[in-house]
Amino acid sequence: MANLLVTEIKSLAGIIETGALKLSGKEMAHLYAIDNAWLWLENGLICDYGAMSKLDISRFDPMEYTQISAKDCFVLPCFVDSHTHIVFAKTREEEFVMRIKGKTYEEIAESGGGILNSAKRLQAMSEEDLFLQAKQRLWELIAFGTGAIEIKSGYGLTVQDEIKMLRVIKRLKEISPIPIKATFLGAHAIPANYKENREAYIQLIIEHMLPAVASEQLADYMDVFCDQGFFTPSETDTLLEAAKIYGLKAKIHGNELGYTGGVQTAVRNHALSVDHLEYTGDAEISCLLQSETMPVALPGCSFFLGIPYAPVRKMIDAGLPVCLASDFNPGSTPNGRMGFVIALACSQMKLTPEEAINASTINGAYALELSNEIGSITRGKRANIMITKPMSSLAIMPYYFGVDQIAQVIINGEIFNSSKD
Ligand code: NIG
Ligand code: FE
Repeated sequence: MANLLVTEIKSLAGIIETGALKLSGKEMAHLYAIDNAWLWLENGLICDYGAMSKLDISRFDPMEYTQISAKDCFVLPCFVDSHTHIVFAKTREEEFVMRIKGKTYEEIAESGGGILNSAKRLQAMSEEDLFLQAKQRLWELIAFGTGAIEIKSGYGLTVQDEIKMLRVIKRLKEISPIPIKATFLGAHAIPANYKENREAYIQLIIEHMLPAVASEQLADYMDVFCDQGFFTPSETDTLLEAAKIYGLKAKIHGNELGYTGGVQTAVRNHALSVDHLEYTGDAEISCLLQSETMPVALPGCSFFLGIPYAPVRKMIDAGLPVCLASDFNPGSTPNGRMGFVIALACSQMKLTPEEAINASTINGAYALELSNEIGSITRGKRANIMITKPMSSLAIMPYYFGVDQIAQVIINGEIFNSSKD
C-alpha cells in the first residue's frame, strides 16, 4: 500500500483530537482546522498532520511515498452516509409524476404503489443483477465522497427476498473498499396479501425472517418504519424485542408522516438512531435529550416529496446532536450525493456549513458505531478523506448547490478511481 503525503492544504478541516464519538448542540458549530497544512497517510490510515511551516520533509523516505499538492483546496474526512436503500430493482419515476399531479406519497402507498411497488420489482430480479446494480451505485457514491455507508433491506418483504437483499449487502461488504453496515428492514411495509392480517406478517418477521437473518449473520441492525399507515409503536416494540434476542440494535424510521410516537418508541428501545423526524416537536426533543439515540435528518427526502424539513436548527439549539444522511432510495429520495444533502441542510434547515459537515461525518459515524474508525481527521483512523476543488472558503461547498466540489476522494490512503474494478 503506497503512502501519501498531501501538502500545501489550504485548510485541513474536521480534526478531532478529543476522542469525541459525536458532537452535540454548540459543539457542532466548530470544525477544527489547520490552515496551510500537510497530511501523511500511511498503510491506509491517517498517520500524522500539521502546519506546513513545521513540516520536516526529511523524515519521509522519498522512495516510499507519493506527494500531492492541495494548494487552494480543503481536505475533509469523507462523508458517512448512515441511511440508504441502495439495493433496489427499478426506478419509480411514474410515482414522481403522480405526485406532481397532486397525489401524496401516502395515497400512492395505500393504493399498492410505493414500497410495495419496489418489492414486486425486487422479487422478480436475480441476486446477481441486484448486486451488479447496487455495486455501481455504491462506486458512484464513493466518488462523490461517501467513505462509509449503511444499506437497508426492506424491498423483499418475504423470507426469501429479504434474505436475497441481505446477501447482496453481504457481498457488497466483501468487496467494498469502504465500511458497510447492513440493516434488516423486513418491517418496511405490510405486504398486500397480509393487509387483512398484519399480525401474521409481524409473526412471519419474528418467527422466520429474524432467525434466518441471524443464522447467516446478515444484519448489524434492525429497522422498523414506525409511522402512520405503516407500523404502530406497539408493533414496533414487539418487533424490536424480538430483534434484541439476536443482538440486533435498532435504527428506526420515524416521524416522517406525523407525530406518531416514532421518536418515543426509538428512545424507549435504546435505538442507535431515529431517522426522518420531519414531524418533531417539543415532546420529541425532550425525549431525545434524555437519550443516547442519534437523531438523523434526511433533507433529500423532504426536498423530493415536498414535505416539511426536520426542525434540526431547533434541535441543535436545544443541545441535541444531529446527523445528516441521504436516504437514497427509488421512492422518496433518488439521490445519494452527500454534497447535495449538506447544501439542503444549509439553505433549507439553516445549519451552518460547519454544522452540516459535522452532522454528515462524525455524527454519521456515531449512527453506525464507527466513530473510532472514521468520521474525522484523527491519527489512527482510516484514511478516507476528500480533497475539494480550489475554494475561497468552506461555505462554497453548500453554496454551489448541486455542483460537487470534490476533486479527489482518497479511500484507505489511495486515490479512488470509480472506473476501476
Ligand atoms: O426512508 N419512509 C420509508 N422508507 C423510505 C422510502 C421507501 C420508498 O418509498 O421506497 C424512506 O423514505
Ligand atoms: Fe429510509
